[in-house]
Amino acid sequence: MRDFKGKAAFITGGASGIGLGLARAFAEAGMKIALADIEGSALTGAVASLKASGTEAIGIECDVADPASYRRAADRALSAFGKVHLLCNNAGVARTGNIWEIAESDWEWTVGVNLLGMIHGLQIFVPHMKAHGEPSHIVSTSSMAGMRPSIAGGPYTATKYAMVGLSEVLANELAGSNIGVSVFCPNNIRSNMPNNGRNRPVRFGGPIDPAKDPHAAAHIATMSERNRGGMDPLEAGQRVKRGIENDRLFIFSHADERGIIADRFNRILSAFDDVTAFAPATTPRRSATAG
Ligand SMILES: NC(=O)c1ccc[n+]([C@@H]2O[C@H](COP(=O)([O-])OP(=O)(O)OC[C@H]3O[C@@H](n4cnc5c(N)ncnc54)[C@H](O)[C@@H]3O)[C@@H](O)[C@H]2O)c1
Repeated sequence: MRDFKGKAAFITGGASGIGLGLARAFAEAGMKIALADIEGSALTGAVASLKASGTEAIGIECDVADPASYRRAADRALSAFGKVHLLCNNAGVARTGNIWEIAESDWEWTVGVNLLGMIHGLQIFVPHMKAHGEPSHIVSTSSMAGMRPSIAGGPYTATKYAMVGLSEVLANELAGSNIGVSVFCPNNIRSNMPNNGRNRPVRFGGPIDPAKDPHAAAHIATMSERNRGGMDPLEAGQRVKRGIENDRLFIFSHADERGIIADRFNRILSAFDDVTAFAPATTPRRSATAG
């Protein structure tokens, strides 16, 4: 997809951080924008800021982990804009802690938002894009945590790896069509991610109060410090836009982890050397006369 002008984007988690950066980058390119987000107050401000710069924008309160809520949000965007050409599966959350200590409900929350949220989007918008037949694109915000283990924890890393795998399968399934597929793997982008527990729905345990959760408080302090030095989300959005124009499956924000990823792949490749080097011991044949 190279022509953005007059087309419509549906961006989950669009009220803040990277989602809003994507919205601003695509608004600059002349797109109409639907922001779908669970945080109503942030949505109001985000939509107002887009409209102030002359963009046709709507905000839709939605929980991407809930398929019925997602369906209603998609219907609203489609009744406002008629067609959607760009889907940004961007909403994401993390719960840190050791794998064996994280509550079942937090596993369900993270998998629900990061992975099922993406799947709900694909199940609605791929058939829609195929039906209208115009050049379209799907970009999903994974993370460097989709490329190597992350300090953001097991549920986050597992879902971000899954988003990469799902995007690679989707690219194969849509090969030869005019629907492009990208997976965005950013590193450190300024956002409200450190305090993402603010948006945990009641069915997964409700908003996380750092004053009552020392683990969450420590996580917010560490991640906020790191996040302050992050990339401007608008620049992240512009990098994604360029990746889509060049039909890139993988889009990165930073080059500084190239060596870490190369080391990981080299460790994987060396496991194949083990396969080649290993000669299984041949089981001695029992003699016919033995015993
Ligand atoms: N900021 C970074 O450094 C960084 C790095 C790698 C990946 N990411 C990924 O980028 C994406 C955006 O995160 P961000 O950093 O901009 O954080 P953010 O908290 O600023 O934005 C995330 C948005 O998702 C929304 N959201 C949360 N749960 C939702 C739900 N159930 N339904 C709909 N919306 C929901 C939030 O309200 C928020 O507006 C996430 O997928 C995150 O994992 C961020």
